[in-house]
Amino acid sequence: MSVRLIFLQILCCWTFAQESFTVRDVNNLTNKLLNGYNKNTLPSSNFSEQFKVDVKAYPIALGDIDEVEEKLSTVMGFIMSWTDDSIAWAPEWELGITNITLGLSEVWKPNIMLLNPHQNVIKGHGDMSSSSVSYYYNGTTHWTRLVTLQTTCDLDTTFFPFDIQECFITIYLSGNDAYEIIVNADWDGNAVFEKENGAWKVVGQTIQGSRNSLMNISYKFERKPLFMLVNILLPIIVLALLAPLVFLMPKNSGERVGYAITMLLALSVYMTIISDNLPKNSNPMPLISIMIFIWYILNSSIVLIVIMNTKINHIKDDRPIPGCVRGFVMFTRLIVQKDKLHGLGTPEESENCLEKKETETKDEMNGKLESTGKSRVQKVTWQEVSVAIDRWCLVWVYFIKILLPIVFFSVMKAGNSRKKED
Ligand SMILES: *[C@@H]1O[C@H](CO)[C@@H](O)[C@H](O)[C@H]1NC(C)=O
Ligand SMILES: *[C@@H]1O[C@H](CO)[C@@H](O)[C@H](O)[C@H]1NC(C)=O
Ligand SMILES: *[C@@H]1O[C@H](CO)[C@@H](O)[C@H](O)[C@H]1NC(C)=O
Ligand SMILES: *[C@@H]1O[C@H](CO)[C@@H](O)[C@H](O)[C@H]1NC(C)=O
Ligand SMILES: *[C@@H]1O[C@H](CO)[C@@H](O)[C@H](O)[C@H]1NC(C)=O
Repeated sequence: MSVRLIFLQILCCWTFAQESFTVRDVNNLTNKLLNGYNKNTLPSSNFSEQFKVDVKAYPIALGDIDEVEEKLSTVMGFIMSWTDDSIAWAPEWELGITNITLGLSEVWKPNIMLLNPHQNVIKGHGDMSSSSVSYYYNGTTHWTRLVTLQTTCDLDTTFFPFDIQECFITIYLSGNDAYEIIVNADWDGNAVFEKENGAWKVVGQTIQGSRNSLMNISYKFERKPLFMLVNILLPIIVLALLAPLVFLMPKNSGERVGYAITMLLALSVYMTIISDNLPKNSNPMPLISIMIFIWYILNSSIVLIVIMNTKINHIKDDRPIPGCVRGFVMFTRLIVQKDKLHGLGTPEESENCLEKKETETKDEMNGKLESTGKSRVQKVTWQEVSVAIDRWCLVWVYFIKILLPIVFFSVMKAGNSRKKED
């Protein structure tokens, strides 16, 4: 008897499961389930326990990172599931219907609220999501949302263009403000942006749920520096290195001042381009701006020196040369190879020197050098002063200009890798 009953029951269920149902049946079930449903009540099965929402996030596209506005645009998909205890049924008594779909406006659902939206809030909540929630017979739901998020991101451009940025997307899942929700957040699959960004590379991403309705997504981006290097940095370096060549130009050439000023102006053009690409704040200041500013000061000094040097070059020789300037020229003579300066001395003098050189041994040279120096003290000309200034400036300006990027780039690289690690 009992065996027969069980057999009947199995047959009955099997036939029910096999039985086809129509849209009317599904609507009937829907009406039954929604009868007395209040979409504003948190659908918790037990209010002494916290309500739980599972979120699976999948990144879709990394729009852009706007350095000037400090804005991050991303397109993200979220699959949310929770258990709505008031929408559950036994499929065996409902013609085998295992799932239904209900309109968003009819049921309870968590809302995505951005806690760090950029100014353009409306666009930030661009609604490209599915407009319905599907329910499984045991109350488990499945809701897919696709959102364009525009969030603020504090950019740290100290090491521009070798910078690494960390941006947070903080989301509040609001459903019922009286109760806090446990958010179980995770990535969906391996979660890489399907559409890559040309300027940035994702080097790290975390997602973190919390017990107080919050979800925290963090992204670490590394700039692909090639564009900035080729288009901005290399031209600036070339310009910076060209500028001191003015000290090699002939003294009488009227183009010296023109050349120096052109170099100064070219650098200021690039300064404008760089500052257009950076946030308009000085906290912190990008190291590259400081470096270019120092180059700018150097280029301005070059203009000043060139103008003054032109003046010095034209001073009449009957004007006495001050002692310190004389010492400066003597010192230059000692350091620079002698024959180079000789070209400017009188011809007999250099001949004398050559003769002496042949006869003297090396030890005697040093002693003699000073004595010849002393004998030539009266022979220092203003032209020589001018040449000496040129020489010193050429060496020092190049020294500083080459040293600067080496120092700055090492600091940037070091800071960059430190940031990448933590
Ligand atoms: C809908 O359900 C009610 C009871 O729940 C039943 O009386 C009615 O026949 C059903 N209608 C259809 C079309 O299945
Ligand atoms: C609700 O949760 C509390 C705490 O976990 C538990 O003691 C209680 O038995 C639960 N009630 C029901 C009806 O499940
Ligand atoms: C939803 O119900 C249909 C029809 O019974 C079934 O084919 C489908 O697999 C169900 N979906 C899920 C996720 O169970
Ligand atoms: C409902 O059924 C689905 C599919 O079998 C399962 O993943 C889910 O955990 C179930 N939910 C509950 C609350 O039992
Ligand atoms: C998000 O998480 C990061 C660390 O992963 C933390 O530094 C940050 O403060 C968190 N933000 C919020 C709003 O919880």
